[in-house]
Amino acid sequence: MEKLKALKGFKDLLPGESEHWEAVSAVMRESFDAFGFSLIRTPILERTHLFTRSIGETTDIVEKEMYTFEDWDKKPVTLRPEGTASVVRAYLEKGLAIPTLPTKLYYQGPMFRHERPQAGRLRQFHQIGAEVIGSLDPQQDVELLSLLHDFFQRLEIKGLTLEINSLGCPTCRPPYREVLQGYLEKELSNLCEDCQRRYLSNPLRILDCKKAECKTIAQKAPVSSAHLCGECKDHFTQVQEGLQSLKIPYEVNTMLVRGLDYYTKTAFEMTTRNLGAQNAVAAGGRYDGLAQALGGPSTPAIGFAIGMERIMALMAESTDHKPHLKLFIVPLGETAHHRLFPILYQIRQKNIRSEIGQPNVALKRQMKQADRLGAEFVLIVGDNELAEGKVILRNMGTKAQLEIPLEHLLDGLTDQIRPLG
Ligand code: HAM
Repeated sequence: MEKLKALKGFKDLLPGESEHWEAVSAVMRESFDAFGFSLIRTPILERTHLFTRSIGETTDIVEKEMYTFEDWDKKPVTLRPEGTASVVRAYLEKGLAIPTLPTKLYYQGPMFRHERPQAGRLRQFHQIGAEVIGSLDPQQDVELLSLLHDFFQRLEIKGLTLEINSLGCPTCRPPYREVLQGYLEKELSNLCEDCQRRYLSNPLRILDCKKAECKTIAQKAPVSSAHLCGECKDHFTQVQEGLQSLKIPYEVNTMLVRGLDYYTKTAFEMTTRNLGAQNAVAAGGRYDGLAQALGGPSTPAIGFAIGMERIMALMAESTDHKPHLKLFIVPLGETAHHRLFPILYQIRQKNIRSEIGQPNVALKRQMKQADRLGAEFVLIVGDNELAEGKVILRNMGTKAQLEIPLEHLLDGLTDQIRPLG
């Protein structure tokens, strides 16, 4: 029989990594809560046209990366490739607007894109995302970017660069697009096949192509920030002034464009030099036209998403999150096991991570097992101890031993273990 394996680009999160994952999630909750965000969880499966309308028909994601299939009712559904479209759908559908203030939502969950798997690029990956819906104020961009900065500071991840750009709006983007096409027209035959196609459908994406021949051409192309309308220019200046006032370092990258079509004005990426080709740890921007494109009222918004696996890769060597057992019980014989098993249940109910050994395994082997599990304490119970009505608790760090009367075992154990926890 063929050996069963996980799908290519789909990854198991194993013990040893999962504790790490939970630690990052705890930092997320702390940081996002402090900035006034509330958690939202949207379904993984949505109607396909939610994504085609939001992300854009001519984007790589929609053209070739979505997991789309026919549901039982014959209508096409898609495993979400990103979170923003679903959050805006929920915002409109459930009426999540709050008077006078923007709605601030965050999420964490799996996304699916049929990309070519490589280091840092998966087909099922996980994002932590934040969306602020209902404000056009440049101060809102600054607040959101300060959350991103704060989150990475809390995780103590160094060597990140915040790159920002402005992509303009429906007033200034079409004329810029024409200027860009005018420049690219002369170079058309030198562009890669994909970019020759993009020339008509999505010329801005050519600026982001990773192929050497296109990169050289893109470097000399006219940049969007030089073609902004007054409003967009002013907005971009205010965002930069706000970042400076909070002493958040950033770089303007005039080549920065995004792979999703809904962006307007501010776009940004948090990049690192430590992850090879997949250098974006987080990315986002404004999407002032999306709510309207999905049938709602005109509602400005901004957000970002952070790649969970990429954070994990950056943090891999930094901390040891191996789970430690608090207590390992060594039962020497069936009687001891029988007696201790109900007590183990009570200890666990007191949130003390504990385990019991096999009754008929030699003491030495059981002690080794306790060591391997990283147990802080070991409780040794044999027939003698049972007869004498007391058991031995050993602190594996200090090697100190203590006798606890059997009749007060639960209280005795919690008294000893808890305060040192
Ligand atoms: P995105 O740039 O497509 O934006 O993805 C955001 C982040 O998700 C990336 O910077 C990366 O860290 C991670 N990521 C993306 N694709 C993969 C992959 N195949 N494997 C591993 N990690 C990946 C969005 O998704 C937008 N929804 C962000 C946003 C929110 N804009 C406004 N609000």
